[in-house]
Amino acid sequence: MRALVTGAAGFLGRHVARKFLEEGWEVIAFDTRESDVEGVQSIQGDLLDVEAVDAAVASVDVVAHVAAIGDVYLAAEKPELAAAVNVVGTTNIANAAVAHGKRVVYASTWEVYGEPEYEPIDEEHPCRPDHPYNITKLGGEMMLLSACELRGLSGVALRLGTAYGSGLRPNSVFRIFIDRAKRGEPITVAGDGSQGRQFTHASDIARAFVLAAESDVSGIALNTVAPETTTIRELAERVAARYPTEVTFGPKRPGDVPPSTVSPKKIEEVLGWRAEVSFEAGLNELMDELEAQES
Ligand SMILES: NC(=O)c1ccc[n+]([C@@H]2O[C@H](COP(=O)([O-])OP(=O)(O)OC[C@H]3O[C@@H](n4cnc5c(N)ncnc54)[C@H](O)[C@@H]3O)[C@@H](O)[C@H]2O)c1
Repeated sequence: MRALVTGAAGFLGRHVARKFLEEGWEVIAFDTRESDVEGVQSIQGDLLDVEAVDAAVASVDVVAHVAAIGDVYLAAEKPELAAAVNVVGTTNIANAAVAHGKRVVYASTWEVYGEPEYEPIDEEHPCRPDHPYNITKLGGEMMLLSACELRGLSGVALRLGTAYGSGLRPNSVFRIFIDRAKRGEPITVAGDGSQGRQFTHASDIARAFVLAAESDVSGIALNTVAPETTTIRELAERVAARYPTEVTFGPKRPGDVPPSTVSPKKIEEVLGWRAEVSFEAGLNELMDELEAQES
């Protein structure tokens, strides 16, 4: 079986591509940048190039559509780019998959829900995104799921939890805290740090993509989050416990999604997926890796 992994030069796409390879799939990477994952065939292409997308999708069995403007700050700065890549780019993937009868697994986000009305948030909870990032991610998800409903596409959206693991972007909260603490600089938490997050390890997310690719569940979105909730304050304290430094509190950041608990019950029922990496183990592994890279 062959998978097209879009975004395979990025943080999660690289984990997803490696997992498909590990499970015996052939992998074609599709990204504007070259993927450095060993064993993939790398196509440098743009989601907005309809012909390139069509040809790439035609050549595989399943598309793991991970590419996006995934950086919240970039989406805020360039909402027109986020709208183009996340909505139109995903529509191009859906169109090609409909035309060639291929299955799509889409990287959505738990952030589509917005302010919680009840918790834990299940997939029936209303979606009220309020930021160019989560608005455009929901737009892409809706375009994909509407193609399932109206045009016979086989596809599923995974609403991923906040991810962490090797290869994280340097502007992620993990990297910022770890890098500062290592230099002995204080870690500044935005707000009071009580925001809870169901940090979900990239290896667990990658496994969900392969399970979803191999199933025929279609036309729905599935929360793909770890059950454990960790506050940003706890994250800062764990980092400071390893690299002793002061933890301070600053103003809230615009675009920060409010704390909420998201239920991963349905994906366990439907795909048999549940997160396996505990936050403590995943964070220690990340800090070990970053240390090893320096030495
Ligand atoms: N990282 C998280 O915590 C998280 C959480 C929930 C959902 N997601 C979703 O998972 C996906 C991957 O996130 P990430 O953190 O790995 O992001 P990332 O920015 O590291 O990777 C995105 C990749 O997409 C590629 N890309 C961007 N525009 C493109 C285009 N026009 N054509 C082709 N490729 C293009 C980039 O080059 C990059 O390699 C995104 O869809 C994001 O919305 C991420």
